[in-house]
This record gives sequence, structure tokens and C-alpha cells, in this order.
Amino acid sequence: MKFFIDTANLAQIKEAQELGILDGVTTNPSLMAKEGIKGAENIAQHYETICELVDGDVSAEVISTDFEGIIEEGKKLAAIHPKIVVKVPMIKDGIKAIKWFTKNQIRTNCTLVFSAGQAILAAKAGATYVSPFIGRIDDSNWDGIDLISQIAHIYSIQGFETEILAASIRTPLHIVKCAEAGADVCTCPLDSILGLLKHPLTDIGLAKFLEDAKKL
Ligand code: E4P
Repeated sequence: MKFFIDTANLAQIKEAQELGILDGVTTNPSLMAKEGIKGAENIAQHYETICELVDGDVSAEVISTDFEGIIEEGKKLAAIHPKIVVKVPMIKDGIKAIKWFTKNQIRTNCTLVFSAGQAILAAKAGATYVSPFIGRIDDSNWDGIDLISQIAHIYSIQGFETEILAASIRTPLHIVKCAEAGADVCTCPLDSILGLLKHPLTDIGLAKFLEDAKKL
């Protein structure tokens, strides 16, 4: 399973990249706004900086919701850097646009996916990635991990090549469960990635080894 970091924060992206386990980055308009990035030029510059920081794909989301607007915006985003993957919402014009991008060799990430039916449509349109939002599904009393398993099963028996990019990750356990359920990629906040490091027995064991090492 690949690891993406779900942020537009350059320091966090750098920290994850330096860990040596990072395969890419996902952003969205909320994450870009959180970093205070405003205006088309600054936004493009920020995406370019992220692309130069990481080895792997960088998802950049369109804001348009009509077919022509999504195409125009997506073409501009894709032109920023070869690592850019155009993130398109799961709406009717979004699916039409994903099909267009697929035909024109522009890679896409179909976002805001909450059901297996939506994931089938994204795969049929040729999306490079499909992003089911695990945490938001859990928040609404459904099981986000069940959706990952269901999509993984469908894609496997149908031979769809779209990669399952588990998004809206809230905890280290989400990452483990996504790996078990067959996600191809997990996009996570830095805290969840670092949370995977933690185990009290590791701390206790290390303290003991360091104590005994003084006797050597
Ligand atoms: C990533 O592609 C999504 O935009 C992101 O994971 C959403 O996460 P959230 O539900 O924590 O906002």
C-alpha cells in the first residue's frame, strides 16, 4: 500500500518525505485555505513547490463544477508539473470530465466518494484514483472500512485498474484497517502516520536495552 500525506503544509510534507516512506500528496481546497494560499498564481506556485518536494503524485483539486470549467481548470493544473493528478468531484459533469481527461492522458483522482456505485462510475470513466472518505462515513454512523473492502472486491472481480485511495483518515488504526481491506493508497494526516510508530512495549523494551547497554 502506498502512503500519501493529506496536507498542503510544506513543513509536514517535508517531514513525511524525510521519513522515506512517502509516495505522494493529496490536497483539497480546505487544506489549501488552511495554509492561507490565495490567488491563481500563488496556488500554482504552491503546487509546484509541493511537486518538487516529493517523489510521487500530487493531487490538485478543481473548483469548477461544470464540464467546460473542470476541463479548463484541470488542463491548467496538469500543466503545472508532470506529478499533478487532477482531483475531480463525484458529480455528473465530473464523471464526464474524468472520461475526457482519461482520453487525453491526464491523470485524475475522483474525490468525495461515499458509495460502491460511485466507485464503479469513477472506474468506468477511467479515473487513476478513487477517493472514498473513510472518516466522514464513520462520522455518519456507517462503516468506512466496509466500503473499502466492497470497492476492493468489486474492482478485483471486474478487473478495474483504478487505484483505491482511502481518504479522510483520522487514526493510525484506520491506516491498518485500510491496508487489510485492500486499499492501494492511504492518504493520511502526518499525526496518523507518526502514530503508527507508537507502542508502549517498544518504549519499555528500548529503555531496558539502553539501561543494559551501560553494562557493556
Ligand atoms: C483527501 O483527498 C480528502 O480531501 C481528505 O482526506 C478529506 O479529509 P477530511 O474528511 O478529514 O476533511
